[in-house]
Amino acid sequence: MSTHRIHLTLNGEAIEAEVPGNRLLADFLRDDLGLTGTKRGCETGVCGACSIHLDDTVTKSCLCLAFQADGRQITTVEGLADGATLHVLQEAFMTHGGLQCGYCTPGFLMASAELLARNPMPSGDEIRKALSGNLCRCTGYQGIVDAVGAAARTLHGI
Ligand code: FES
Ligand code: FES
Repeated sequence: MSTHRIHLTLNGEAIEAEVPGNRLLADFLRDDLGLTGTKRGCETGVCGACSIHLDDTVTKSCLCLAFQADGRQITTVEGLADGATLHVLQEAFMTHGGLQCGYCTPGFLMASAELLARNPMPSGDEIRKALSGNLCRCTGYQGIVDAVGAAARTLHGI
């Protein structure tokens, strides 16, 4: 198996790595770099648990090879908080019942963050549509939709 030397920016830090050509980005993040906030679920692009930002676009890391991240910017859920200060979405998910077991939560947070970056005040329908690529077996989704709406209002100071 050939390997690739890649350079990327990960959660704001420049990194360099040697990866096999068949290394999944999700496995590279979790197993090689220890960023286990990104979850492996279906590993077939269905559940969204592995969602990250690749150059600001929400992306399922189980569908990407690690070498495809060469030269790109990646943000994982570990990069959402500002040190000890949680991201407004993380606070809202806790406050509004946006999580139970939490396994799906990193993926929902990353998809929600991308939504609010391009649509700062989404409607409930827009939130549901934006998060339709993420599955949750616990919450029934309403708490997640409420949390994203609450985070949007907080960011607007209302
Ligand atoms: Fe990637 Fe389910 S683990 S979409
Ligand atoms: Fe358990 Fe979503 S909180 S799967």
